[in-house]
Amino acid sequence: MIGAPGNPTLVQLRRCTVAVDLGAARTRVYLRGTGLVADEPSVAAVDIRTGALIAVGANAEQMAGRTPEHIRVARPVAGGAVVDIAMAQRMLRHILGDKLGRRRLRVPMMRAAVCTPHGSEPIARRAAVETMYGLGARRVELVDTLIAAAVGCGLPVEHPEATMIVVCGAGTTQVAVLSLGSIVAAETVPVGGDAIDRAVVQHLRNAHELMLPSQSVRPLHQMLGAPGSGGTPTTEVHGRDVVSGMARSVLVETEGVRHAMRTPLTAVVDAITGVLRHCPPDLVADLGDRGIMLAGGSALMPGLDLMLRQATDMPVHVADRPDVVAVQGLGAMIEGRVRPLLLDPLTV
Ligand SMILES: Nc1ncnc2c1ncn2[C@@H]1O[C@H](COP(=O)(O)OP(=O)(O)OP(=O)(O)O)[C@@H](O)[C@H]1O
Ligand SMILES: [Mg+2]
Repeated sequence: MIGAPGNPTLVQLRRCTVAVDLGAARTRVYLRGTGLVADEPSVAAVDIRTGALIAVGANAEQMAGRTPEHIRVARPVAGGAVVDIAMAQRMLRHILGDKLGRRRLRVPMMRAAVCTPHGSEPIARRAAVETMYGLGARRVELVDTLIAAAVGCGLPVEHPEATMIVVCGAGTTQVAVLSLGSIVAAETVPVGGDAIDRAVVQHLRNAHELMLPSQSVRPLHQMLGAPGSGGTPTTEVHGRDVVSGMARSVLVETEGVRHAMRTPLTAVVDAITGVLRHCPPDLVADLGDRGIMLAGGSALMPGLDLMLRQATDMPVHVADRPDVVAVQGLGAMIEGRVRPLLLDPLTV
Protein backbone atom coordinates (compact mmCIF):
# COMPACT_ATOMS: atom_id res chain seq x y z
CA MET A 1 0.00 0.00 0.00
CA ILE A 2 0.97 3.64 0.02
CA GLY A 3 3.93 4.00 2.33
CA ALA A 4 4.79 0.28 2.31
CA PRO A 5 8.45 -0.52 1.51
CA GLY A 6 9.18 0.44 -2.10
CA ASN A 7 5.97 2.48 -2.42
CA PRO A 8 5.70 6.26 -2.07
CA THR A 9 4.36 7.67 1.17
CA LEU A 10 1.37 9.98 1.29
CA VAL A 11 3.77 12.81 2.16
CA GLN A 12 5.78 12.13 -1.01
CA LEU A 13 2.58 11.97 -3.06
CA ARG A 14 1.37 15.23 -1.51
CA ARG A 15 4.44 16.93 -3.05
CA CYS A 16 3.41 15.92 -6.58
CA THR A 17 1.78 18.54 -8.78
CA VAL A 18 0.61 16.26 -11.56
CA ALA A 19 -0.92 12.76 -11.67
CA VAL A 20 -0.91 10.70 -14.86
CA ASP A 21 -2.64 7.46 -15.92
CA LEU A 22 -1.07 6.28 -19.18
CA GLY A 23 -3.48 3.64 -20.50
CA ALA A 24 -3.44 1.59 -23.68
CA ALA A 25 -6.64 3.32 -24.80
CA ARG A 26 -6.60 6.69 -23.03
CA THR A 27 -4.22 9.07 -21.28
CA ARG A 28 -5.56 11.00 -18.31
CA VAL A 29 -3.93 13.85 -16.45
CA TYR A 30 -4.89 15.44 -13.13
CA LEU A 31 -3.30 18.70 -11.97
CA ARG A 32 -3.19 19.47 -8.26
CA GLY A 33 -5.53 22.33 -7.45
CA THR A 34 -7.24 22.08 -10.85
CA GLY A 35 -8.54 18.52 -11.30
CA LEU A 36 -8.78 16.35 -14.40
CA VAL A 37 -7.37 18.42 -17.26
CA ALA A 38 -6.97 15.82 -20.02
CA ASP A 39 -8.67 12.56 -21.00
CA GLU A 40 -7.64 11.75 -24.56
CA PRO A 41 -7.00 8.61 -26.65
CA SER A 42 -3.36 7.46 -26.32
CA VAL A 43 -2.76 7.94 -30.04
CA ALA A 44 -0.34 10.04 -32.11
CA ALA A 45 -0.21 10.47 -35.91
CA VAL A 46 3.21 11.09 -37.47
CA ASP A 47 4.35 12.01 -40.98
CA ILE A 48 7.05 9.39 -41.57
CA ARG A 49 8.70 11.48 -44.34
CA THR A 50 9.48 14.39 -42.03
CA GLY A 51 8.99 12.85 -38.57
CA ALA A 52 6.55 15.68 -37.76
CA LEU A 53 3.70 15.06 -35.38
CA ILE A 54 0.43 15.71 -37.21
CA ALA A 55 -2.22 15.01 -34.58
CA VAL A 56 -2.61 13.52 -31.10
CA GLY A 57 -5.52 12.25 -29.01
CA ALA A 58 -9.02 12.21 -30.50
CA ASN A 59 -7.88 13.82 -33.79
CA ALA A 60 -5.22 11.15 -34.31
CA GLU A 61 -7.63 8.35 -33.40
CA GLN A 62 -10.06 9.51 -36.09
CA MET A 63 -7.25 9.09 -38.64
CA ALA A 64 -6.61 5.42 -37.73
CA GLY A 65 -7.38 3.18 -40.71
CA ARG A 66 -7.89 6.17 -43.02
CA THR A 67 -4.35 7.47 -43.56
CA PRO A 68 -2.23 7.72 -46.72
CA GLU A 69 0.98 5.67 -46.73
CA HIS A 70 3.22 8.41 -45.36
CA ILE A 71 1.20 8.87 -42.15
CA ARG A 72 1.63 6.42 -39.31
CA VAL A 73 -0.85 6.25 -36.45
CA ALA A 74 1.08 5.19 -33.34
CA ARG A 75 -0.14 3.87 -30.00
CA PRO A 76 2.79 4.39 -27.63
CA VAL A 77 1.13 2.52 -24.72
CA ALA A 78 0.24 -1.17 -24.96
CA GLY A 79 -0.43 -3.96 -22.51
CA GLY A 80 -0.21 -1.61 -19.53
CA ALA A 81 3.26 -0.27 -20.41
CA VAL A 82 4.79 2.59 -22.39
CA VAL A 83 6.29 0.79 -25.40
CA ASP A 84 7.56 3.91 -27.23
CA ILE A 85 8.90 6.41 -24.69
CA ALA A 86 9.80 9.16 -27.18
CA MET A 87 6.36 9.00 -28.82
CA ALA A 88 4.59 8.92 -25.44
CA GLN A 89 6.49 12.07 -24.43
CA ARG A 90 5.56 13.89 -27.65
CA MET A 91 1.94 12.80 -27.27
CA LEU A 92 1.74 13.90 -23.63
CA ARG A 93 3.45 17.21 -24.36
CA HIS A 94 0.78 17.99 -26.96
CA ILE A 95 -2.14 16.66 -24.95
CA LEU A 96 -1.11 18.87 -22.07
CA GLY A 97 -0.37 21.83 -24.31
CA ASP A 98 0.10 24.95 -22.24
CA LYS A 99 -1.59 23.49 -19.16
CA LEU A 100 1.62 21.91 -17.92
CA GLY A 101 3.84 24.60 -19.46
CA ARG A 102 2.53 27.29 -17.14
CA ARG A 103 2.72 24.91 -14.19
CA ARG A 104 6.31 24.01 -15.01
CA LEU A 105 7.41 27.62 -14.92
CA ARG A 106 5.89 28.05 -11.49
CA VAL A 107 7.17 24.74 -10.14
CA PRO A 108 10.68 24.19 -11.48
CA MET A 109 11.02 20.89 -9.61
CA MET A 110 7.90 19.19 -10.93
CA ARG A 111 7.03 15.93 -9.20
CA ALA A 112 4.67 13.53 -10.88
CA ALA A 113 2.58 10.60 -9.64
CA VAL A 114 1.93 7.86 -12.20
CA CYS A 115 -0.10 4.68 -11.79
CA THR A 116 1.22 1.40 -13.18
CA PRO A 117 -0.67 -1.90 -13.45
CA HIS A 118 -0.42 -4.28 -10.53
CA GLY A 119 2.59 -6.59 -10.84
CA SER A 120 4.11 -4.71 -13.79
CA GLU A 121 7.69 -5.57 -14.71
CA PRO A 122 10.57 -3.29 -13.57
CA ILE A 123 11.18 -2.35 -17.22
CA ALA A 124 7.57 -1.16 -17.57
CA ARG A 125 7.85 0.86 -14.37
CA ARG A 126 11.13 2.35 -15.62
CA ALA A 127 9.49 3.31 -18.93
CA ALA A 128 6.76 5.22 -17.06
CA VAL A 129 9.42 7.08 -15.04
CA GLU A 130 11.53 7.89 -18.13
CA THR A 131 8.46 9.22 -19.95
CA MET A 132 7.78 11.71 -17.17
CA TYR A 133 11.46 12.71 -16.86
CA GLY A 134 11.31 13.73 -20.52
CA LEU A 135 8.46 16.10 -19.67
CA GLY A 136 10.51 17.86 -17.03
CA ALA A 137 9.63 15.85 -13.92
CA ARG A 138 12.44 15.74 -11.39
CA ARG A 139 10.87 12.95 -9.36
CA VAL A 140 8.26 10.35 -10.24
CA GLU A 141 6.20 8.40 -7.69
CA LEU A 142 4.67 5.15 -8.93
CA VAL A 143 1.38 3.96 -7.44
CA ASP A 144 -0.30 0.59 -8.04
CA THR A 145 -3.33 1.18 -10.31
CA LEU A 146 -5.46 -1.06 -8.09
CA ILE A 147 -4.82 1.13 -5.05
CA ALA A 148 -5.40 4.33 -7.03
CA ALA A 149 -8.65 2.94 -8.48
CA ALA A 150 -9.90 1.71 -5.09
CA VAL A 151 -9.28 5.17 -3.60
CA GLY A 152 -10.92 6.78 -6.65
CA CYS A 153 -14.02 4.58 -6.17
CA GLY A 154 -14.24 5.73 -2.55
CA LEU A 155 -13.88 2.16 -1.27
CA PRO A 156 -13.20 1.90 2.46
CA VAL A 157 -9.81 0.32 1.76
CA GLU A 158 -8.42 1.12 5.21
CA HIS A 159 -11.11 -0.77 7.11
CA PRO A 160 -10.48 -4.26 8.44
CA GLU A 161 -13.06 -5.77 6.10
CA ALA A 162 -12.43 -6.93 2.58
CA THR A 163 -13.27 -5.06 -0.59
CA MET A 164 -12.82 -6.45 -4.08
CA ILE A 165 -12.06 -4.29 -7.07
CA VAL A 166 -11.92 -5.31 -10.73
CA VAL A 167 -10.38 -2.74 -13.09
CA CYS A 168 -11.21 -3.73 -16.66
CA GLY A 169 -9.31 -1.47 -19.06
CA ALA A 170 -8.54 -1.76 -22.76
CA GLY A 171 -5.56 -4.12 -22.65
CA THR A 172 -5.56 -5.50 -19.11
CA THR A 173 -7.90 -6.45 -16.30
CA GLN A 174 -6.65 -6.21 -12.74
CA VAL A 175 -8.38 -7.88 -9.81
CA ALA A 176 -7.62 -7.35 -6.12
CA VAL A 177 -8.95 -7.92 -2.65
CA LEU A 178 -7.94 -5.14 -0.27
CA SER A 179 -8.13 -4.96 3.49
CA LEU A 180 -6.54 -2.59 6.01
CA GLY A 181 -5.10 -0.50 3.22
CA SER A 182 -3.16 -3.34 1.62
CA ILE A 183 -3.58 -5.73 -1.26
CA VAL A 184 -4.32 -9.17 0.19
CA ALA A 185 -4.40 -10.96 -3.16
CA ALA A 186 -4.33 -9.69 -6.74
CA GLU A 187 -4.00 -10.81 -10.31
CA THR A 188 -3.56 -9.09 -13.68
CA VAL A 189 -4.66 -10.69 -16.95
CA PRO A 190 -3.89 -9.38 -20.46
CA VAL A 191 -7.57 -9.19 -21.39
CA GLY A 192 -9.73 -6.07 -21.60
CA GLY A 193 -12.18 -4.28 -23.86
CA ASP A 194 -9.86 -4.59 -26.87
CA ALA A 195 -9.80 -8.40 -26.62
CA ILE A 196 -13.60 -8.44 -26.46
CA ASP A 197 -13.82 -6.20 -29.54
CA ARG A 198 -11.34 -8.43 -31.39
CA ALA A 199 -13.45 -11.49 -30.50
CA VAL A 200 -16.56 -9.84 -32.02
CA VAL A 201 -14.68 -8.87 -35.20
CA GLN A 202 -13.27 -12.40 -35.52
CA HIS A 203 -16.70 -13.97 -35.00
CA LEU A 204 -18.24 -11.90 -37.82
CA ARG A 205 -15.34 -12.76 -40.07
CA ASN A 206 -15.61 -16.50 -39.41
CA ALA A 207 -19.39 -16.85 -39.25
CA HIS A 208 -20.46 -14.26 -41.85
CA GLU A 209 -17.31 -13.49 -43.89
CA LEU A 210 -17.82 -9.86 -42.94
CA MET A 211 -15.14 -7.32 -42.02
CA LEU A 212 -16.55 -5.02 -39.38
CA PRO A 213 -15.29 -1.40 -39.12
CA SER A 214 -14.00 -0.69 -35.60
CA GLN A 215 -16.68 1.94 -34.88
CA SER A 216 -19.41 -0.66 -35.52
CA VAL A 217 -18.29 -2.96 -32.70
CA ARG A 218 -19.59 -0.92 -29.75
CA PRO A 219 -23.32 -1.12 -30.66
CA LEU A 220 -22.95 -4.92 -30.56
CA HIS A 221 -21.67 -4.87 -26.95
CA GLN A 222 -25.22 -4.80 -25.64
CA MET A 223 -25.64 -8.39 -26.83
CA LEU A 224 -23.46 -9.47 -23.87
CA GLY A 225 -26.27 -8.65 -21.46
CA ALA A 226 -29.14 -9.70 -23.74
CA PRO A 227 -31.50 -12.28 -22.19
CA GLY A 228 -30.74 -15.99 -22.92
CA SER A 229 -31.51 -17.66 -26.22
CA GLY A 230 -35.31 -17.67 -26.21
CA GLY A 231 -35.84 -17.63 -29.97
CA THR A 232 -32.95 -16.30 -32.08
CA PRO A 233 -32.97 -12.49 -31.99
CA THR A 234 -30.94 -10.98 -34.78
CA THR A 235 -29.48 -7.57 -35.59
CA GLU A 236 -28.53 -6.12 -38.97
CA VAL A 237 -24.83 -5.29 -39.22
CA HIS A 238 -23.08 -3.41 -42.04
CA GLY A 239 -19.52 -4.18 -43.10
CA ARG A 240 -17.38 -5.30 -46.02
CA ASP A 241 -17.38 -8.71 -47.67
CA VAL A 242 -14.12 -10.53 -46.85
CA VAL A 243 -13.75 -11.94 -50.37
CA SER A 244 -15.19 -9.28 -52.71
CA GLY A 245 -14.41 -6.25 -50.57
CA MET A 246 -17.87 -4.87 -51.36
CA ALA A 247 -20.18 -3.27 -48.77
CA ARG A 248 -22.64 -5.84 -47.41
CA SER A 249 -25.18 -6.25 -44.55
CA VAL A 250 -25.86 -9.43 -42.63
CA LEU A 251 -28.30 -10.49 -39.95
CA VAL A 252 -26.24 -11.48 -36.91
CA GLU A 253 -27.56 -13.78 -34.19
CA THR A 254 -27.26 -12.38 -30.66
CA GLU A 255 -26.28 -15.73 -29.21
CA GLY A 256 -23.22 -16.08 -31.47
CA VAL A 257 -21.93 -12.59 -30.61
CA ARG A 258 -22.58 -13.12 -26.91
CA HIS A 259 -20.67 -16.40 -26.99
CA ALA A 260 -17.75 -14.73 -28.80
CA MET A 261 -17.62 -11.91 -26.19
CA ARG A 262 -17.78 -14.32 -23.28
CA THR A 263 -14.78 -16.35 -24.46
CA PRO A 264 -12.06 -13.77 -23.54
CA LEU A 265 -14.04 -12.87 -20.41
CA THR A 266 -13.48 -16.38 -18.99
CA ALA A 267 -9.91 -15.19 -18.21
CA VAL A 268 -11.41 -12.36 -16.10
CA VAL A 269 -13.74 -14.75 -14.26
CA ASP A 270 -10.77 -17.11 -13.68
CA ALA A 271 -8.75 -14.20 -12.25
CA ILE A 272 -11.60 -13.33 -9.84
CA THR A 273 -11.93 -16.93 -8.61
CA GLY A 274 -8.13 -17.23 -8.42
CA VAL A 275 -7.89 -14.12 -6.21
CA LEU A 276 -10.73 -15.40 -3.99
CA ARG A 277 -8.91 -18.73 -3.59
CA HIS A 278 -5.88 -16.88 -2.20
CA CYS A 279 -7.95 -14.96 0.39
CA PRO A 280 -8.52 -16.01 4.01
CA PRO A 281 -12.08 -17.39 4.47
CA ASP A 282 -13.20 -14.50 6.74
CA LEU A 283 -12.46 -11.98 4.03
CA VAL A 284 -14.27 -14.09 1.41
CA ALA A 285 -17.32 -14.07 3.71
CA ASP A 286 -17.22 -10.21 3.79
CA LEU A 287 -17.07 -10.17 0.02
CA GLY A 288 -20.15 -12.33 -0.34
CA ASP A 289 -22.15 -9.40 1.14
CA ARG A 290 -20.22 -6.43 -0.22
CA GLY A 291 -19.55 -7.84 -3.67
CA ILE A 292 -17.27 -6.57 -6.41
CA MET A 293 -16.61 -2.95 -7.42
CA LEU A 294 -16.21 -2.87 -11.20
CA ALA A 295 -14.13 -0.03 -12.68
CA GLY A 296 -12.11 0.79 -15.82
CA GLY A 297 -13.53 1.95 -19.17
CA SER A 298 -14.82 -1.51 -20.03
CA ALA A 299 -17.10 -1.36 -16.96
CA LEU A 300 -19.24 0.88 -19.22
CA MET A 301 -19.92 -2.11 -21.47
CA PRO A 302 -23.62 -2.85 -20.99
CA GLY A 303 -24.13 -6.28 -19.48
CA LEU A 304 -20.58 -6.83 -18.20
CA ASP A 305 -21.72 -6.37 -14.59
CA LEU A 306 -24.60 -8.80 -15.11
CA MET A 307 -22.35 -11.37 -16.75
CA LEU A 308 -19.82 -11.18 -13.87
CA ARG A 309 -22.68 -11.40 -11.34
CA GLN A 310 -23.95 -14.58 -12.97
CA ALA A 311 -20.46 -16.08 -13.31
CA THR A 312 -19.31 -15.35 -9.73
CA ASP A 313 -22.61 -15.39 -7.83
CA MET A 314 -21.57 -12.14 -6.11
CA PRO A 315 -23.13 -8.66 -6.20
CA VAL A 316 -21.37 -6.41 -8.74
CA HIS A 317 -21.45 -2.59 -8.48
CA VAL A 318 -20.23 -0.33 -11.27
CA ALA A 319 -18.21 2.68 -10.03
CA ASP A 320 -19.36 6.22 -10.79
CA ARG A 321 -17.34 7.36 -13.85
CA PRO A 322 -15.53 3.99 -13.86
CA ASP A 323 -13.17 5.07 -16.66
CA VAL A 324 -11.45 7.82 -14.63
CA VAL A 325 -11.35 6.32 -11.11
CA ALA A 326 -7.60 5.54 -11.19
CA VAL A 327 -6.52 9.09 -12.07
CA GLN A 328 -9.12 10.53 -9.67
CA GLY A 329 -7.68 8.31 -6.91
CA LEU A 330 -4.17 9.54 -7.72
CA GLY A 331 -5.59 13.07 -7.69
CA ALA A 332 -7.05 12.53 -4.21
CA MET A 333 -3.60 11.40 -3.04
CA ILE A 334 -1.71 14.40 -4.44
CA GLU A 335 -4.36 16.77 -3.08
CA GLY A 336 -3.83 15.26 0.39
CA ARG A 337 -7.43 14.04 0.62
CA VAL A 338 -6.35 10.52 1.65
CA ARG A 339 -5.78 10.08 5.35
CA PRO A 340 -2.79 7.96 6.40
CA LEU A 341 -3.60 4.60 7.97
CA LEU A 342 -2.22 4.55 11.50
CA LEU A 343 -1.61 1.07 12.87
CA ASP A 344 0.27 2.08 16.01
CA PRO A 345 1.22 -0.67 18.42
CA LEU A 346 -1.10 -0.60 21.46
CA THR A 347 0.52 0.65 24.64
CA VAL A 348 -0.46 -0.89 27.96
N1 LIG B 1 -19.33 3.10 -23.29
C1 LIG B 1 -18.54 2.04 -23.48
N2 LIG B 1 -19.05 0.86 -23.85
C2 LIG B 1 -18.24 -0.20 -24.04
N3 LIG B 1 -16.91 -0.19 -23.90
C3 LIG B 1 -16.35 0.96 -23.56
C4 LIG B 1 -17.12 2.14 -23.32
N4 LIG B 1 -16.29 3.13 -22.98
C5 LIG B 1 -15.04 2.60 -23.00
N5 LIG B 1 -15.09 1.30 -23.35
C6 LIG B 1 -13.95 0.39 -23.51
O1 LIG B 1 -13.11 0.57 -22.42
C7 LIG B 1 -11.75 0.38 -22.83
C8 LIG B 1 -10.93 1.55 -22.36
O2 LIG B 1 -10.92 1.53 -20.95
P1 LIG B 1 -9.88 2.42 -20.14
O3 LIG B 1 -10.06 3.84 -20.52
O4 LIG B 1 -10.01 2.02 -18.71
O5 LIG B 1 -8.53 1.85 -20.78
P2 LIG B 1 -7.04 2.21 -20.46
O6 LIG B 1 -6.91 2.66 -19.05
O7 LIG B 1 -6.54 3.13 -21.51
O8 LIG B 1 -6.39 0.78 -20.71
P3 LIG B 1 -5.43 -0.10 -19.79
O9 LIG B 1 -5.74 0.23 -18.36
O10 LIG B 1 -5.76 -1.52 -20.16
O11 LIG B 1 -4.05 0.29 -20.22
C9 LIG B 1 -11.74 0.25 -24.34
O12 LIG B 1 -11.55 -1.10 -24.70
C10 LIG B 1 -13.12 0.74 -24.72
O13 LIG B 1 -13.61 0.04 -25.86
MG1 LIG C 1 -6.26 1.89 -17.28
